[in-house]
Amino acid sequence: MSDNLIDIKGVRHAYQTETGPLPVLDGLEIAVPEGGFVAVVGPSGCGKSTLTKLIAGLMKPDLGEVWLHGELVKSPRATVGMAFQNPVLLEWRSILKNVMLPLEIVPTTMTKREQEERARKLLALVGLEGFEDKRPSELSGGMRQRASLCRSLVHKPEVLILDEPFGALDAFTREDLWQTMHALKAEEPFTGVLITHDLRESIFLADEVIVLSGRPARTQYVLDVNLKGARDIDHLYTAEAAEMLNVLRHQIEIAQGRAPADAA
Ligand SMILES: Nc1ncnc2c1ncn2[C@@H]1O[C@H](COP(=O)(O)OP(=O)(O)O)[C@@H](O)[C@H]1O
Ligand SMILES: [Mg+2]
Repeated sequence: MSDNLIDIKGVRHAYQTETGPLPVLDGLEIAVPEGGFVAVVGPSGCGKSTLTKLIAGLMKPDLGEVWLHGELVKSPRATVGMAFQNPVLLEWRSILKNVMLPLEIVPTTMTKREQEERARKLLALVGLEGFEDKRPSELSGGMRQRASLCRSLVHKPEVLILDEPFGALDAFTREDLWQTMHALKAEEPFTGVLITHDLRESIFLADEVIVLSGRPARTQYVLDVNLKGARDIDHLYTAEAAEMLNVLRHQIEIAQGRAPADAA
């Protein structure tokens, strides 16, 4: 038994296409301890979204294993929360009712009253107090993404998977959301996997950044971010951060085949 909440071991996966198998992941190794937050970066199309589906149990790998909390993942998991680039909120429901949606699907021991209190608490945490009764179209893109984060956490998942959740937001809104993420994690501890193409975002939010190689993706490089816990935007302008961003940019160039791999 390992101490890791998420353990991805030797995962290989290919999609069957009309022109034959498309190998997407090959030799993926990722371990995330309980309460850890890992960012995954890599070239476009290398298999990052495929990875999120494997963790959530929406797909099974051809080879290798995905373990969550000591259990082999074989089917979809209610203990996983997910948020994507486009927060798909239902327009005919209020923001509060959108956030409460997973509680209608995932079994819960919370009473109706507790469910509503929890949703309201999460909305307040992300700065959406007073917007509970609005419809999604009445909110800005950043506010909708905040509501979507609340929805992905409302059923107290063990694991939160974020697939480029801030990719469509403007730079300032995105930075606000990063800080909200730290605030959320302090109040509502979870184990997280963040897929992103924003290297600043990866070092601002994660304890560890995993660089995937080009397709078929394997774990190419792991950066230990030496800034534990919450941090503020100023951290991104330090020499230490600049150095980490340099290393990551170089690794991405290797993954894209635009720079030769470093000598081992
Ligand atoms: N259901 C599918 N069937 C066939 N090919 C797919 C399917 N889903 C994704 N792919 C292909 O697999 C590769 C990896 O996809 P994806 O995991 O979405 O990459 P990323 O999220 O890193 O951009 C891409 O080339 C994509 O076109
Ligand atoms: Mg993707």
